[in-house]
Amino acid sequence: MESFQKLIKRLLLLIGIFTMIIISVIIALYNYETKNIEYNIIEQWDPNEMIIDNLNVPLIVKQGYLFVSESSKHMGPLAKNDSLRFSGNNLSCTNCHLNGGTLSGSASWIGIIDRFPQFGGRANKLGTIQDRINGCMERSMNGKKLSLKSKQMNAIVAYMDWLGEDLPKLNSKIFKGYPAITIPKLAVDLEFGKNIYIKECTTCHGKNGQGIRYLDIDKGYQYPPLWGNDSYNDGAGMNRVITAAAFIKNNMPFEQASWENPKLTDEQSYHVAGYINSFSRPHKNNSEADYPDKKLKPVSTPYGPWEDDFSAKQHKFGPFAPIISFYKKKYNIEKTK
Ligand code: HEC
Ligand code: HEC
Repeated sequence: MESFQKLIKRLLLLIGIFTMIIISVIIALYNYETKNIEYNIIEQWDPNEMIIDNLNVPLIVKQGYLFVSESSKHMGPLAKNDSLRFSGNNLSCTNCHLNGGTLSGSASWIGIIDRFPQFGGRANKLGTIQDRINGCMERSMNGKKLSLKSKQMNAIVAYMDWLGEDLPKLNSKIFKGYPAITIPKLAVDLEFGKNIYIKECTTCHGKNGQGIRYLDIDKGYQYPPLWGNDSYNDGAGMNRVITAAAFIKNNMPFEQASWENPKLTDEQSYHVAGYINSFSRPHKNNSEADYPDKKLKPVSTPYGPWEDDFSAKQHKFGPFAPIISFYKKKYNIEKTK
């Protein structure tokens, strides 16, 4: 009888211990999850802590980060010699892909490696991530292509890969592209756009849109130029009003607007996007060859030829609704940009 009681006691003890273990595991798992979730939202982007001084980050990833964040010095006009100069303006990739390409709503690079190869209308073929990077090199950076085997290309791809692999898995759906805006029915009103520009943008980008360099000139622009010789060229995505408006709505004014909490309305973003794109900028050579299938050209591509008879002015400043319905009726294509 006594030994039976002992057995029961031991059994109870065992069950107790077992329950404790299970509870601890559950608590540990729960903490692990929430910790990850907290880390998923990179609130404080600190590239020194996360990348440059981080001993766990491979050298090639650190190099990649420098190519995209101090592009002018490492692969642009300020590089040591001509053979190292690929980008043609003094922008950095991260002037448009904010927080080192991690900020949702600014065409984040998190998870991007998994999304390529991808069909691209501009070349009308399946393009690799390298092709896409070179798209921004030749247009946003007003430069020339990096060769596929170059140190620069390999390092940039390694950096993007690292963002997808070694930063915790993020909801890549949230992080993709720019959130769409509702395209206003009217054409861009440049006067209205100018008023918004003066009120919301001049403090940083300047009245003349030429921005401000860092004191340490090697670091590029603290506030990038929005038009003129040192800006993106006329073949860039940012030169399309609808694309620029989506970027601006979710990211500008800098550190005041975000995806979750934009400052400007769709309409204000649209008019100010038209205003900054009404000024002159470098010309992309051979842009007539873009979009071999002209039907796939985004409606706000401001340069021809087009598969329709709308004027160049309407493609640049809208109204876009008639162009969108033309493609829907004639080709059954739903255009969103
Ligand atoms: C002037 C602004 C600007 C600069 C500078 C810029 N880009 Fe972009 N980038 C864009 C825009 C606009 C898009 C298209 C975003 C969209 O429509 O969703 C884009 C798209 C991309 C994409 C594809 C994103 C996706 O989700 O499919 C990659 C990759 C990319 N850029 C890499 C780079 C690299 C690398 C550099 C520097 C060499 C660079 N970009 C410089 C504006 C810029
Ligand atoms: C508080 C300063 C500030 C204000 C105000 C501001 N920006 Fe910016 N803007 C920036 C910074 C900084 C960047 C580059 C981000 C980076 O490098 O991290 C930028 C980048 C941009 C870019 C992409 C880079 C390029 O060269 O094309 C565009 C377009 C832009 N801003 C438009 C605007 C517009 C339009 C407004 C007004 C609605 C505005 N910004 C207001 C600071 C500002």
